[in-house]
Amino acid sequence: MKSRILKIFRSAKDVVSGETLSAELGISRVSVWKHIQKLQECGYDIDAGAKGYWLRNAPDIPYSWEFPDRENRIHYFPEVSSTMDIARDMARRGAPHLTVVTAGRQTCGRGRLRRVWHSDDGGLYITVILRPDIPLQWCFRVNFAASLTLCRTLRRETGVSAAVKWPNDILVNGKKLSGMLSEMEAEAGMVSFITVGIGINVNNDPTFLEPAACSLKQLTGTSVSRKALLAAYLNELEDYLRHADFESTIDDWKTLNCTLGKQVRVVSMQETSSGCAVDVDPGGALILKLSDGSLKKILYGDCMNDEKA
Ligand code: BTN
Repeated sequence: MKSRILKIFRSAKDVVSGETLSAELGISRVSVWKHIQKLQECGYDIDAGAKGYWLRNAPDIPYSWEFPDRENRIHYFPEVSSTMDIARDMARRGAPHLTVVTAGRQTCGRGRLRRVWHSDDGGLYITVILRPDIPLQWCFRVNFAASLTLCRTLRRETGVSAAVKWPNDILVNGKKLSGMLSEMEAEAGMVSFITVGIGINVNNDPTFLEPAACSLKQLTGTSVSRKALLAAYLNELEDYLRHADFESTIDDWKTLNCTLGKQVRVVSMQETSSGCAVDVDPGGALILKLSDGSLKKILYGDCMNDEKA
């Protein structure tokens, strides 16, 4: 009902009378008023006067009803511990492909390598549940597809010169705009689901706690709509997953990367490796050329520019 009311408001050029809303929605005027009150409680600035209702402003909150094409699959929470935990529980209970959990804030946002992901108001925090119909050994390509499509979306929607850093970060001018964390559950050699968690610094200021980070607001000089960004990203991701055979995913990813050709240091739980990043192999591993000329394949880790080299 909320999405239908908002659609009527957004297509109207004038005040919409209670009578019109009641007729178009097939509900009583008292019901209309109750729905309007609920929208106001959710932060919608709606004037109610003698002539009817007028939507002055809508909050930039990714409520499910703001995504009419996928309303049943978007779950918004003002505050959660981590969208990863909520999404994992939903996936275990059978949530379908492309279900999205999003939150205004996270109290225990998780990053890769057991880091904390600071999740203040203004950022976009989502976890997408994916059930790709691909062999288990290709699952890592889904993560590359997720970061590749996010990079394309950010470039197109905001004009920033986003680039992907191995394996899944998005940087702009060397500063981190977005991070991605992926978890998977499998059974009998088959993927049950993948949860892809993405944090994007949109209108928050991450620099106090993370000096090497940046936000879309800082980059563009204006607030960016999280609702519009999320809608654009989900369309891009869904389209890619529907049409991709995943054969070209790594090559597509390479066209937008800012890692290859650089001297890097890769830190994992076990070791730190330094060298020139020369390739990403079809298995998604980073290939480093070490100082003695040998090649080293890195499957997992956090990659940073090695300024000392
Ligand atoms: C990283 O760069 O280390 C990955 C960061 C991933 C953060 C996102 S925010 C939404 C989702 N929920 C979490 O707790 N983490 C991911």
